[in-house]
Amino acid sequence: MSRRPNRRIVLGVAGGIAAYKSPDLVRRLRDRDFEVRVVMTAAAREFVAPLTFQAVSANPVHCRLLDEQAEAGMGHIELARWADLVLVAPATANVIARLAHGFADDLLATLCLATTAPLVLAPAMNREMWQAGATRANVLALLDRGVSILGPGEGDQACGEVGPGRMLDPEEIADRIADRIAARFGGGALADMEVLVTAGPTREALDPVRYLTNHSSGKMGYAVAAAAAEAGARVSLVSGPTALPAPPGVERIDVTSAGEMYAEVLARAARCDLFIAAAAVADYRPARCAEQKIKKGDAPAALDLVRTPDIVAAVAAMDGGPFTVGFAAETESVQAHAQDKLERKGLDMIAANRVGLADRGFASDRNALSVLWRDGSRELALASKTRLARDFIELVAERYRAVS
Ligand code: PMT
Repeated sequence: MSRRPNRRIVLGVAGGIAAYKSPDLVRRLRDRDFEVRVVMTAAAREFVAPLTFQAVSANPVHCRLLDEQAEAGMGHIELARWADLVLVAPATANVIARLAHGFADDLLATLCLATTAPLVLAPAMNREMWQAGATRANVLALLDRGVSILGPGEGDQACGEVGPGRMLDPEEIADRIADRIAARFGGGALADMEVLVTAGPTREALDPVRYLTNHSSGKMGYAVAAAAAEAGARVSLVSGPTALPAPPGVERIDVTSAGEMYAEVLARAARCDLFIAAAAVADYRPARCAEQKIKKGDAPAALDLVRTPDIVAAVAAMDGGPFTVGFAAETESVQAHAQDKLERKGLDMIAANRVGLADRGFASDRNALSVLWRDGSRELALASKTRLARDFIELVAERYRAVS
């Protein structure tokens, strides 16, 4: 029998008093039709016996990283791949710190590092520990990487204090996980839509060993493709040369030059609802590509360049074409240049970003966007490209719905 998609949850249980609520959480998740496998830290086993979780989950419980039996059956990599979502509840201050710093010295931390599934934490700790600067910084680092945090709630604490730090009730966590899975895998902001994204640089050959290109790493476009897939779309990603793996569930089409990107995009654009052009396409290519390597002595004093086809403008001009969103990479007068490109290329929206700074734009893990459309604009503040792309996709979906 084939498995039901998107119903597999790995529940990580860390060592806090709130661990006594975790068996109930397993039951609530199973009530909502999720299959649950439990991973316990050593400290968690001081609070609740693995047998309890085995009974409520109807699955073996996983406790150790280096366990011959588990590695033969389901070790950390298998668990990481098996999961459609990893939930850590309770997430103690210690586990949050270890995940923020990428530790890989026990089963839970290692599988969190190894998984590409969404990671959701339900913190539980004393209120002073929750408000401590170190915990705040660790939580911000995780949020920045796209990790979701549920809670904590406020109220009486096991330590006798009152304030923020209580793990949310199992019922509420299970509801929010079910909502999240629904948003990610169906009923999301782009549910059932066909989305085409371009990403990365193009290379324009001068001879068999040399080319003209730019600094694009593909990170922004790949994050946009991943966020669109998370929002429920079927996503095709036409990508220039990058070192990045295709985001889960995204079909990648590799190209090298602007001409190839143009051909692949135009072959697909009529079938898609939304086109997002995040690639840094070369505006010019050498007029001729030499058949043999140009020798030092034969190098021309100047290069003859010709314009490449404008991909995003061609898609925007299609009759009955998709909702078309461009990007604009600018070093100065960002909004003014973007406004000009929005109008000149006939786009529905444009996302402008500053390039040439160390903390954003080309190759950085972070970025900020000024998003413009005909009668409005919104600023998306500096954040990781993963997080920024999710906010950007929400905004694109909102504008798409507003005009269709
Ligand atoms: O890849 P990263 O390292 O993460 O960096 C991200 C980024 C800076 C490359 C990205 O955020 C970005 O700004 N991409 C667009 C870069 C660009 O080419 O901007 P532009 O202002 O030159 O072009 C405007 C728009 O026209 C873009 O949507 C571009 O894809 C499109 N274009 C340009 C030329 C051309 N021949 N065809 C096009 O479709």
